[in-house]
Amino acid sequence: MRFIILENKVEVGKYVGQLFLDEAKKNPHLIMGLATGSSPLETYQFIAENYRSQGVSFAEAKSFNLDEYLNCPIKKETYRSFMEENLFSKIDIKTQNTNFPDPDNPEHYDQRILEAGGVDIQLLGIGQNGHIGFNEPGTSFSSLTHIIELTKSTREANKRFFGGDLSLVPTEAVSMGLATIMKSRHIVLIANDITKIKMVEVLLKGLTDETYPMSVLNSHPNCDIVLTRDIFKIAFKAD
Ligand code: F6R
Repeated sequence: MRFIILENKVEVGKYVGQLFLDEAKKNPHLIMGLATGSSPLETYQFIAENYRSQGVSFAEAKSFNLDEYLNCPIKKETYRSFMEENLFSKIDIKTQNTNFPDPDNPEHYDQRILEAGGVDIQLLGIGQNGHIGFNEPGTSFSSLTHIIELTKSTREANKRFFGGDLSLVPTEAVSMGLATIMKSRHIVLIANDITKIKMVEVLLKGLTDETYPMSVLNSHPNCDIVLTRDIFKIAFKAD
């Protein structure tokens, strides 16, 4: 596991965005694992603003998003809408090459990822409780794509997307499992908000415990944790 420390969110977005652009340039058939939420916003902005000038095309690339809400009452807040707004409509990826897990047939998603050749580069954010995808604390490290009940703390953290109204935040989601995520050839986790500090400290300790879903990453052979300096300073007790 490599820890990469950058000054701020914008620098994190540039760094991670450039990783994706470099990979897509080397491999036009890139299979990308994508995340939603606040953490990847600067990354998506950087990709959208720079792919053409760097001679990159996503026309042959495919994406597999981590997760999707079940019964989301506000269409604009579904994760497909989020991706359309923040990335897909701004690059040349083909809609038919963008994939989301299907709540009616969750485990089929693992099969589809496998048939596509497996995820080359997987982007992750991290929940304040350590979830990756929507794998909440206690999820088995051997889990495949599945339906999961969202914890109160995750729903509280996400209510900002629903006008602050907890009753509008979906109670369930379908998510890639932890074993699904671990099959990715390269994983890049962004921690660019101070609320994630506790979980970064757990990662640093090298602990592997299903209470902390993201701790599964400690045994991945090619995983980057990209941090902002404020988190680094506290978590590493550094200046
Ligand atoms: C989103 C996802 C979640 C988020 C996490 C952090 O697709 O899988 O694990 O990455 O909840 O969310 P933000 O980035 O909004 O703090």
